[in-house]
Amino acid sequence: MSSPPSARAVRQYAAGTGNLTARIALHAYGTNPQDWFAWLAEQLPLGGDVLDIGAGTGELWRRVDPVRRGLRLTLADFSPAMCAQLRTVPGARVQRCDATALPFRDASFDTVVANHMLYHLDDPDRGLREFARVLRPGGRLAVTTNGGDHLAELNALRAAVGSPGLTLTGFTAESGPGYVARHFTDVTVRRRPGELAVPSAEPILAYLASLAEQPLSAAQASAVRERIRVGADSTGDFRIRQHSVLITARR
Ligand SMILES: C[S@@+](CC[C@H](N)C(=O)[O-])C[C@H]1O[C@@H](n2cnc3c(N)ncnc32)[C@H](O)[C@@H]1O
Repeated sequence: MSSPPSARAVRQYAAGTGNLTARIALHAYGTNPQDWFAWLAEQLPLGGDVLDIGAGTGELWRRVDPVRRGLRLTLADFSPAMCAQLRTVPGARVQRCDATALPFRDASFDTVVANHMLYHLDDPDRGLREFARVLRPGGRLAVTTNGGDHLAELNALRAAVGSPGLTLTGFTAESGPGYVARHFTDVTVRRRPGELAVPSAEPILAYLASLAEQPLSAAQASAVRERIRVGADSTGDFRIRQHSVLITARR
């Protein structure tokens, strides 16, 4: 039985790709010279039939060429806007669907990827059960998520201007391995090192705007600018913690 995508995921992603694109843009200020998608691409256990569920704008597949790697790649997302963008990825089949009701036969994939998606599910076990069902015996799972302190300084900025903080619940770096172990074996966790060093307020304001249910007022934006100015280090960068992990496992 499926459950509908979470209300927040629908508000964030169903109608457009702009919120996700604004958030990916902030990560250009990472101190790790290898960006997130390049780091991830290097570690993914890829081969044969691959499903990426909650594939978003398909950024990962602009780093990994599925054709050159000989993959049979299926990209899936519940959002019509994301699926339209995914159709521009060469060599991929695109399927609009919900992660908790995958329209694929049992044992039809060698790898399932779900990159920063499981924390959108009200019940992550429903998604993981589906991922296990569509994986072949011995097939590989690769999922990513964030820790509770990921981007803590951004949350503090939101709180300081009266916007509710974004507490990550459900499938996090802390709880995720336990969820995965209920459905898979050989669970491993790898954390990507690095933090953000952002040299100006604008990308941070764009990120905060992408999360806001209501746009920041001019007074809130100016309060955020001031906090960034005061909180900047001696080189003028505003530092923001990152805590993202890749969890892999075997069916
Ligand atoms: C944070 S974005 C990550 C996108 C992409 N994996 C990436 O890393 O850039 C989460 C994605 O999951 C999708 N999503 C959320 N809930 C979903 C669900 N129940 N079924 C399928 N896709 C879902 C959203 O539409 C969005 O594209």
